[in-house]
Parts: sequence; C-alpha cells; structure tokens
Amino acid sequence: MKTKKTLALLRQYESRNVTFVEPDGSWPIVWERAKGVHVWDAEGKKYLDLTAAFGVAAAGHANPNVVKAGQRQMAKLLHAMGDVHPHELKAKLARELSKITFERWSKASGKTIFCNSGFEAVEAALKSSLLATGKRGVIAFSGAYHGLGYGALNATHRDHFRTSFSTQLREFCSFASFPGSAKDLDEVASAIRGYFRRHKIGAILVEPIQARGGINLPPSGFLPLLRKICDENRALLILDEIYTGFGRTGKWFACEHTRTVPDLICLGKALSGGFPISACVGRAEVMDAAWPPSSGEAIHTSTFLGHPVGCAMALAQIDEVRKRGLVGQSAARGRFLLDEIRTQISTSKFRIEVRGIGLMAGLELKNLDGSPATTASLKIIKTMLHHGFILLPEGEHANVISFTPPLTISESDLRMTTRELNRVLNSL
Ligand SMILES: Cc1ncc(COP(=O)(O)O)c(C=O)c1O
Repeated sequence: MKTKKTLALLRQYESRNVTFVEPDGSWPIVWERAKGVHVWDAEGKKYLDLTAAFGVAAAGHANPNVVKAGQRQMAKLLHAMGDVHPHELKAKLARELSKITFERWSKASGKTIFCNSGFEAVEAALKSSLLATGKRGVIAFSGAYHGLGYGALNATHRDHFRTSFSTQLREFCSFASFPGSAKDLDEVASAIRGYFRRHKIGAILVEPIQARGGINLPPSGFLPLLRKICDENRALLILDEIYTGFGRTGKWFACEHTRTVPDLICLGKALSGGFPISACVGRAEVMDAAWPPSSGEAIHTSTFLGHPVGCAMALAQIDEVRKRGLVGQSAARGRFLLDEIRTQISTSKFRIEVRGIGLMAGLELKNLDGSPATTASLKIIKTMLHHGFILLPEGEHANVISFTPPLTISESDLRMTTRELNRVLNSL
C-alpha cells in the first residue's frame, strides 16, 4: 500500500514533530492529486476538501488557468534574481497588489516586498514598521497566529508554539485580549493605551478575523478602534490577512467589512493558489519612509524573492477570483453554510457555538459543563475523514471544527457536509 510506504519513509527520514501519524493508521491520508474541491488519496479514494488546504486553494485545487500560467512560466523562466536582476511579472504583480488594496481603498498606492511564506510577510511588515517609526514595540493579541519564524513567533500568542523557543525570542510584543463582543472594547482599548504609555510602540499587528485561533470574529468596532489608536499614537496598523485575504470572508480583504484601511497588509496562502509566495504591501508613503534607496546591497531580501512562477500564478489566481466572481460567491455560500450548520446540526450531548463570515466558519464544541470538547472534536474530524470529508480543528483546544473550503464549492457539497457532520456528531 502506497500510504503505508510513504508514512514509513516519513517516519524514517523526516524529522519528528512534523507529520503526525496515528499508530492505528487512522491519520493522516497521503494526498495523491487534487482538482477543484476534491482530493484523491494514494489509494484512489476521493474526498471533499473543506479546508482548501489551509485556505490556499481559493479558486479550486489545480485551477486550470493558474496551472497553465505556472507551466508557461516554468518553461520560459524558472528563476530570476530576487533583488538583483528582476523579471517583468514581479513588477506586474506588485502593481496588481497595489490596485486591489490601497488603490481601491484610498487615493494612495501600495508598494510591495515579496516573500515566500506567510510568516516572512509578517516579518517584512515588522521590519517596515520599525524602520518607518523607529519604535521597536508591537502590540498583538491573545490567540494570534502570525507564523513561526523567530520574528513572527514573537507575535504568535500560543504557548504551544513559543515555550520551547522562548529563550531565543526577542519579546518585543505586548499582548492585549482579542475581543469577542462590543462590551469588551473599552477594556481592550484601555489595555492598549496603557501599553502605548509604558512602551515605545511602533505598530499594532492583528488578524481581522483569527483563523488558527479558532475562527474568532471581533465586534465591528474593533478594527476602527485600532485604526484610531494608531493614528493618535503615530503607530502603524498592520493587518495580517494571510488567511482572510482574496475573498475568503466575502470581501476581497476582511478589513473592508468595516472600511478600515491599514498601513501595511500581509498576504499569502490564496495569493497564488499553491505556490509558496507571500507579500507585505504597504502604503507607498510608509514604505518610502521605511526603506532607504538601495545602494546595491538590499538590507532585506531572499534567494527566491518574487519568484517568477509564483508571480505568474498569483496574477492568474487574482484574475480567476475576479472573473469568476468568487468574492461575492464566498459571501453568499458563507451565508448558506452558516444557515445549514444552524439548521442541520443539533445535539443534546454538547454545547455548540457557530460563527463565521464568508467561507470562513467555525463550529465550537463544548461539553455540557462548558469545557472544550477536544476529544470529541478530534474524533469527529477523523471519522469525517474516513467518510470522505477533509476538515481541520482550530483553536487552542482544537475544539473548533473549521470550514474554509475552496470558494468554488457548491451549495449541495456544503449541505452534504453538514448532514454528514450531524450524523457523525450524533453517533459518538
Ligand atoms: C493569519 C496567519 N498569518 C500567518 C500565517 C503563517 O503563514 P505560513 O504558514 O505560510 O508561514 C498563517 C498560517 O496559517 C496565518 O493563518
């Protein structure tokens, strides 16, 4: 069996603590191919993907136009020279990112630093804010996930990721509570203002909706409040839209729900639909204040910066999101999904809380005494997998079943998922 062989090889040759393998063979599956909303495993079994593989496959897995753009680019120019000899598509993608962000939100334009992983885009934003403001302190939030590189890890809140490495962290972040409702806002504001009084804070870094933290939606006044506090304190607002960008929440970017314009925005995941490319886009004025003209040796770069294949795929992916109306579709399908979860799923054994916006939804499972129902949630996800549905748990206690499917998913696939989920939940 291919699956067994692959997992045995990983056990032997991949570092421990990367791929989690259940000894009884119930997790994981080995992916062989994917198309649209479906994934096939190494044994030929077909699955419906409710994760879009961490939100990446927004326009569907292996979207034909995105794949074609990548293939054409591979044949023509596979690699260029990051910050030295550029290629045309890097310039075109930087222009496109400006157009879909700052030029849509304001009269300003945007300037981009390209990176590879999401966490690097966060780190490019942190560097930009330090250079622009001269202030080292950053405010981030409880439950935040900004990636695991040594810069971004300072702003990622969960102990699980930080504890083993804490002696090498620089600890430039102060954490405020991520608000759950409007009544929390006064307290959050006063904690943040306290940090501004006590420390030299250059930026507030926040996810407009926390994804890995458990699909946490803040009250609508939250981002405007952060914008106001940043303006009062000459600090920058950095939005991490690595998960929420490109239509995931039913707007191009989640900040548009409250018309909040950031100074810097971090993008990744769905940007290319599958090639590791990310971007930190800043208001041009901020980026120009931050970064001095290059004297020939850039002070921030990397070998694969602005990779030609990633740029070609990202341009095609943005085109697909636009032409197929996936942003509006995400909003509509998201409403349908929430409605389905609320009407189809019920249980007397657990307490359920449902939340979401666009195609980013979470079903939090608690025991009747209010404690996180982690074991049940993991069991449900595993059983769903064996029934042909790929889902992931989110949140500190892994008790939030999250739904971030490709934006191309149909209502009937969503309905099939919620019905099956209800059956599995009630069979525990
Ligand atoms: C909001 C957010 N920021 C940053 C990251 C880190 O991205 P990457 O894993 O590509 O480094 C993630 C990954 O899940 C994320 O959800």
